[in-house]
Amino acid sequence: MHSFVYRLNTLVTFAAVILAVLCGAASFLDAFNSPSVRAHAEVIKFNRFRKQLSGNDEVSLTLNISMDLRSLFTWNTKQVFVFLAAEYETSKNSLNQISLWDYIIPDKDHAKFQAQVANKYPLIDQGSNLRGKKVEFVLHWHVMPWTGRMIEGKMAVSNFYLPEAYT
Ligand SMILES: *[C@@H]1O[C@H](CO)[C@@H](O)[C@H](O)[C@H]1NC(C)=O
Repeated sequence: MHSFVYRLNTLVTFAAVILAVLCGAASFLDAFNSPSVRAHAEVIKFNRFRKQLSGNDEVSLTLNISMDLRSLFTWNTKQVFVFLAAEYETSKNSLNQISLWDYIIPDKDHAKFQAQVANKYPLIDQGSNLRGKKVEFVLHWHVMPWTGRMIEGKMAVSNFYLPEAYT
């Protein structure tokens, strides 16, 4: 009886050590996986550009996006959260960052695609600074692992100018 409990205890401890070693190895390997992400985004159409009653500029647009994030997936990847941000500078903020579209990629088979999408979230400025403004598209990703740290990355994709006049 005594010996049985002792053996069980040893077995459980051994299993825990193995698990800890595997988890360590998994996040160690992730640190050496250098992804080569490819992405493109462009404005197909400005659907609406107006100043809200509050005085803030608001833009709705249709985007053509394509990306290949397959290299982010390893055997330790649970899913990848990706979002496309519009980033621009104003006198008030050196970086304005607004997410226009996001997506959770469940597996490698869904990590390469091309789509035309309307912005999921509107581009709303803190003020009325957007006429003729240069805006950069930046793709951000969060790789969520089964074990280990979340890995973040980003890539500047393209830039464009907003129209000089409201529609
Ligand atoms: C969208 O992008 C893809 C690939 O980047 C391109 O082949 C296609 O012609 C584009 N479509 C439009 C409507 O611009």
